[in-house]
Formats: sequence, C-alpha cells, structure tokens
Amino acid sequence: MIKPHGSDALDPRFVYDSEKRHALIEEAEGLHSILLNSAAAANAVMLGGGYFNPLTGYMNLADSLSVAEKMHTTDGLFFPVPIVNLTNESGVEAGQRIALRDPNVEGNPVLAIMSVAAVETVSEDQINFMAEKIFRSLDEKHPGVATFTGLGRTLLSGSIDVLNFSYFQADFPDTFRTAVEIRNEIAEHGWNKVVAFQTRNPMHRAHEELCRMAMHDLDADGILIHMLLGKLKPGDIPADVRDASIRKMVEVYFPPNTVMVTGYGFDMLYAGPREAVLHAVFRQNCGCTHLIVGRDHAGVGDYYGGFDAQTIFAEEVPEGALELEVYNADHTAYSKKLDKVVMMKDAPDHSKEDFVLLSGTAVREMLGKGIAPPPEFSRPEVAKILSDYYQTLDS
Ligand code: ADX
Repeated sequence: MIKPHGSDALDPRFVYDSEKRHALIEEAEGLHSILLNSAAAANAVMLGGGYFNPLTGYMNLADSLSVAEKMHTTDGLFFPVPIVNLTNESGVEAGQRIALRDPNVEGNPVLAIMSVAAVETVSEDQINFMAEKIFRSLDEKHPGVATFTGLGRTLLSGSIDVLNFSYFQADFPDTFRTAVEIRNEIAEHGWNKVVAFQTRNPMHRAHEELCRMAMHDLDADGILIHMLLGKLKPGDIPADVRDASIRKMVEVYFPPNTVMVTGYGFDMLYAGPREAVLHAVFRQNCGCTHLIVGRDHAGVGDYYGGFDAQTIFAEEVPEGALELEVYNADHTAYSKKLDKVVMMKDAPDHSKEDFVLLSGTAVREMLGKGIAPPPEFSRPEVAKILSDYYQTLDS
C-alpha cells in the first residue's frame, strides 16, 4: 500500500488508548485552558485523525514562514500550508501544558492537550507574507485571507494529544472518517489503485463523470469520495444536504463496492493551488494513489486561474515529494451534440454553443431562484434533495 506522507506508518495524534485518554481528560481539568478558533480546532481534528502525518502538532514561526514561502519546514519536510494555532489569548508560556477548548461544540469541551514549545508574536508583515504565499492574494474579500489574517498574532507551537473529533463524529456518524479508518477500509477492500475525489459541493453531472472518467482512465479499483464537513463561506450548501445528495447519486448511479462515501473535519481554506497540494498530502495519508484535480480546484471567485491547481504540481512540487499522483481533469461540460458529459479537450470539433457549462455556482443560482436544475446539470434524485433544501430556506 502507498506509504503515508513522511513516515512508514501513520502516527495519528488522537489518543486511542482509553486509559491514557481518560488520564489526559483528568489532567486537563487542572490545566490552564484557551478557547481555540475554528481554524486551529480543525487543524487539531486533522492531526488527530492522521491526516496531517507526520506532523505532531502546530508549527512554530520559523516553520510556518518556511512552509508558506517554499512548502518545506526548516527541517526539509514537504508541507504545503502552515498548520498553526494563531490566537489572541495571552498568558500562555513556553514549557506549559495547556488544554485547548473547542469553539464549535456547546460548552466548549476540551478537544486536545498541548505541550507548548514556543509562544511567538507574529508581526503584521509576517502575517501578510504568509497570507500572500498561501492565498496568492491579500484581498480581505477573499474568505480565506479574511479568516487567516483575523486569527490572532500570537503563535502557539508544540505537539498535541487529541481527545475527540469535535462535532464531526456526532453530526456525521456515517460519513466522518479519520485517515486511519480510510486506510484500513481500503486495505480491507483489497484495493490497490484508489482515486480520491475532493468535494465541497453536492455532486453534479460533471463531478460524477469526472469520477467515472478517472476510474476508467486509471483502471482504478475504487474511488474515495471525500467531502469537506467543516465550515464554508455563506451560500455554499451545508454538509448534511450535500452528504444526502452524494449518497443518493452513488447508490443509484455507481456499481456497488466501488465507491467509499466519506468526509473529513476541516474548514475550507479557499487556497486554490496550495489547498490542492494539501489535499494531495492528506489523501496519500488516507492510502489513495491518485487525486482528481479539475477546474478551479478549491478556488473561490476569480482569484485563481482555472488550472493553477494543476500547474502547481508540475512547477512547484519537487519530484518525489509525494507518492500520490494527480489526475488532471480538463473542464468538463455537457455536450449537446453527443448527449453526454465530456472533457472539453476531448471534443475538439465542438464550438462553445455545443456545450452546456456545468458549475456548482450556476446550480446554486438556479436553486436560489426556485428552478430545479435540468438533467444536463444534476441527476433528478440530486436535484430533488437540493430543491427540497432550498424550499426550507425560503420558508
Ligand atoms: S472544491 O472546492 O472542493 O474543489 P468542487 O466540489 O466544486 O469544489 O470540486 C470538486 C472537484 O471537481 C475539483 O477537483 C474541481 O476542480 C472539479 N470540478 C468541478 N467542476 C468541474 C468542471 N466543470 N470541470 C472540471 N472539473 C471540475
């Protein structure tokens, strides 16, 4: 099986040994505690599940700057995005053990315990430097930039022990999985070649066909549909509705035992190319051999070129940094001439008018106006679930 990133075996930060976990929960009661922001909490959940292997905790300032600048830590580990605990909380000292409380669960229970290695102040210039490198923009209208630059100016670094998976396990019991669980499940299936499909949207015809094309072209054993379950920008479709529509589509339109419908607990960064590389790292940790990267992967607005998330792999990811390979997908659209969804590059004789362009944004706009998306856009079963959701919004 494909190795995890940076080590021979996954080292998840969740404390699986229940005796140890209970001892830590008891210890937490006597510790100084801080309330995390959602971004840092999501990082803890990802570290807990083995997704960010081989990291053991939050990065310090030197590593964060180095990762932002050149996608490597100061020790030379390849990593595409700084994994940070930036806060406004004061009163934490290096060498201390502290409890990290969860901002997303009522009562703010302890999510993890941290051994604080360093407490560093981050300057405005350093924050902007990192944001510019990660998001290729400093525009405060970019949702990822706004979140990142608003996290705080105190950087707490050090290893963590994770005690639970926040709200993800309770809210998405059938869908939330750790990287450890996915790796095990893939092994149980006996799959060798596994394609990951990242999504933050309900799956429309383009998404569905991308999965089918990748399966076919790569002669893969299975596909991991891996949806983001954390926070999104306003207007994106909530995870439970997305989950229901994806499950329905898989049930009706894919052969049994070829698809795993799963999700991970992370907030969307909207970092386009850098997020695509992060997606590749954590899908490798899950045991996938390939990741589909299509048009405007993890993008938002017009901040990224349509295929920047593909070129970053060719131009900025060093040879050998990842074992997982990317399956580059061209813009996929419905062909009126052929009466099916195709990659546009595969229909060179078509003019613009021969295509119906499929996009999640277009579907959301239609649904917002009370129009059910046509079959060229969405399967009727999917359209129904989405229309029902939009009706609840109206009422
Ligand atoms: S993402 O933010 O999670 O990337 P989305 O769920 O819309 O957004 O996309 C999931 C994957 O499908 C990404 O790899 C994206 O590039 C790809 N994709 C979505 N729509 C198209 C399309 N029409 N043509 C090509 N690729 C697409």
